[in-house]
Amino acid sequence: MNDTFLKACRGEKTDYTPIWMMRQAGRYLPEYQKVRGNVTFLELCKSPDLCVEVTLQPIDILGMDAAILFSDILILMEAMGAPLEFHEGLGPIFPETIRDQAALDRLIIPDAEDSTGFVMETIRLLRKELKVPLIGFAGAPFTCATYLIEGGSSKVFWETKKMMFTNPQLFHNLMDKITEATIGYLQAQARAGAQALQLFDSWAGILAPGDFAEFALPYVQRILASLQQYDIPLIYFANNGATLLDLSITSGADVIGLDWRINIGDAIKKVGNRAVQGNIDPFSLLLPKDKLRQRIARLLDDAKDAKGHIFNLGHGIHQFTPPEQAKIAVDAVHELSCK
Ligand code: CP3
Repeated sequence: MNDTFLKACRGEKTDYTPIWMMRQAGRYLPEYQKVRGNVTFLELCKSPDLCVEVTLQPIDILGMDAAILFSDILILMEAMGAPLEFHEGLGPIFPETIRDQAALDRLIIPDAEDSTGFVMETIRLLRKELKVPLIGFAGAPFTCATYLIEGGSSKVFWETKKMMFTNPQLFHNLMDKITEATIGYLQAQARAGAQALQLFDSWAGILAPGDFAEFALPYVQRILASLQQYDIPLIYFANNGATLLDLSITSGADVIGLDWRINIGDAIKKVGNRAVQGNIDPFSLLLPKDKLRQRIARLLDDAKDAKGHIFNLGHGIHQFTPPEQAKIAVDAVHELSCK
């Protein structure tokens, strides 16, 4: 068992810096495309055998030090009763938006085993196969709320901020419900065998620090507090979150995920006695080999004072990234960080 990732999360000494990449199972891999060619994305997410297969691909092909459960943050929103559609090239769509109390009342707090048993089954199957630790995950409530309120992805988040500022009680009620569902969902993942859990807050960075503190962070804190009993590393990743770092470190996470917009050394000074995960610009995987290796060497050096460092991209790997380039990065991190 390669437990380098778990050791780094706990701030223990490791022989080298472990690496995994957000969205490491996905369209940039021809092997994923092949599986995906026969099923829709949602069918894939609900087929444990296929989820196991695509989860293992980046471990076998690229040599990652951790696996992340193949699923999607929006699967839980669907289980809460919000019909979810994925259209080719359009991303996720919720035709029934949540913008008033009546719509919110129709959402349920599902039983995780009953309604998302396929996720728990995937975890149980993966634990039999894997020789690296398995990361489970969910979306952070704020990020999930934006999809339900907007009805899909957004650039301006008009409806989300309109609700926050004109009907804060409704917004808090929605956050509260998503939070309760997420607690049940992540606790079930931990019981099924997830060895670390990550909360993805992809849209936290659209908030002013004061609004993040009022509308988003308390719910992250509540979720992470409910997971302490499982004694597994908890990771909080707020994308575009450099200006929220002072707040994010109060989330209760053991590991703080960082995007590329902050120098990792500067972040480590703030994060103090916790591990960090990140944070190379995903597009730097396009650099020629020698330049990519130089950049990785610099990042490893900038991170040398971290309590623990898990190498990752600052956000998900882009779908047009050549897999060979990802492999260069994995090998470089292993080789250059060897102590
Ligand atoms: O990281 C992994 O390898 C595990 C799988 C994973 C997926 N989505 C698979 C996926 C994870 C951890 C996610 C998280 C997720 N999903 C987030 C948070 C991380 C982030 O990127 O900010 C968000 C915001 C979503 C919602 C979502 N799912 C969007 C916006 C999209 C469409 C965007 C796109 O890339 O097309 C998805 C679809 C999705 N989720 C795909 C994959 C592999 C592509 C689906 C396909 O095969 O067509």
